Amino acid sequence: MKKPSVLVSGGAGYIGSHTAVELIAAGYDVVIVDNLSNSDIAAVEGVRRITGAEIPFVEVDCCDRTALRRVFETYDFDSVIHFAASKAVGESVQKPLEYYTNNLTSFMNIIALMREFGRHNIVFSSSCTVYGEPDKQPVTEQTPRKPATSPYGNTKQMCEDILRDSIAAYEGLKGIALRYFNPIGAHPSAQIGELPRGVPQNLVPYITQTAAGVRECLSVFGDDYPTADGSCIRDYIDVTDLARAHVAAIGRMAGDKNKERYEIFNVGTGRGVSVLELVTRFEQVNGVKVNHKIAPRREGDIIAIWADPTLANEELGWQATRTLDETLASAWAWEKHLRDME
Ligand code: NAD
Ligand code: WQD
Repeated sequence: MKKPSVLVSGGAGYIGSHTAVELIAAGYDVVIVDNLSNSDIAAVEGVRRITGAEIPFVEVDCCDRTALRRVFETYDFDSVIHFAASKAVGESVQKPLEYYTNNLTSFMNIIALMREFGRHNIVFSSSCTVYGEPDKQPVTEQTPRKPATSPYGNTKQMCEDILRDSIAAYEGLKGIALRYFNPIGAHPSAQIGELPRGVPQNLVPYITQTAAGVRECLSVFGDDYPTADGSCIRDYIDVTDLARAHVAAIGRMAGDKNKERYEIFNVGTGRGVSVLELVTRFEQVNGVKVNHKIAPRREGDIIAIWADPTLANEELGWQATRTLDETLASAWAWEKHLRDME
């Protein structure tokens, strides 16, 4: 019998590569497409090494519908997970047109081709950024979305709406939007992980590079927020746990469990951790020093957000399993692997 198969767009990227590993472990065939605009083919090789699977990779820009159509013609996948997008919040403010063009066009091309080829099930990478600064914690899927504060955030809201409206209009199409909280860490094998380009904008890659001596000092953006230690609070989710949520979502759509054809799930741990707590835990778990200083608040940062993951726990049968310590150890192992490669 033919194995079920999934097209993973953006599969050479951070979350996509980890998801490809988990899909293969769960018995799926995987086809990866990526234009390598923010990734390296080494990630696909890493996935092949970890899984021992032959994974077709096509270098293609999802904004190029003709090129993407050839992928649909060539490979017989049942479902799509759409990761391909530009994701830097700050850059999106500087380059809004690039962000709207890339994130919206690639997504609309995928949906249009799914219709054309009768492929029914799609998982979309959404983000907790759609909630903005929430009035109440933790946030559930019912928590109202706030107006987006960046073009990037706006593309996530718009793509959620495009998906909702497409599913309402086109019979047969089913979709799940996963709203990720803050993905961190790397595969336990240290064969794949996050590959930040230039100076990392996100906290954990900045921590690991500082511990490795690549950066001199981490700036903790603000210690005067109304939180217990004054620094911001986030819900840090292990990337392999996050990857498994995609497998659960694909499985759900293939079965008959979902009552609605369009569903949204928060993917977080339910645990809020402050920046200073994270730095201290990283130092303790890995036995390394992270030089850090308190710096002014970063513009646009929200004070605190963490997930209520009950819906994903109950409906997807998914749960975050890795401890923060395991995740921070994996982030450090990956950073050391990168330094060894130099
Ligand atoms: P990433 O940059 O590592 O992965 C995205 C991949 O998509 C990259 O490999 C990039 O080369 C590729 N890509 C971009 N535009 C493309 C295009 N037009 N055609 C083909 N490939 C293209 O980012 P990630 O952290 O793995 O994020 C994956 C998805 O999850 C994105 O949609 C992102 O917005 C979303 N997300 C990420 C986070 C996070 O903190 N990392 C949080 C919430 C949501
Ligand atoms: C985490 C915390 C910073 C760097 C971003 C996107 C969001 C989603 C996830 C995609 C904050 C603090 C950071 C540093 C610091 N991505 N920090 N020093 O901003 O919560 O979310 O990634 O959808 O849309 O906005 O993540 O890792 O940048 O920051 O003190 O050098 O770490 O202020 O409190 P963020 P982050």
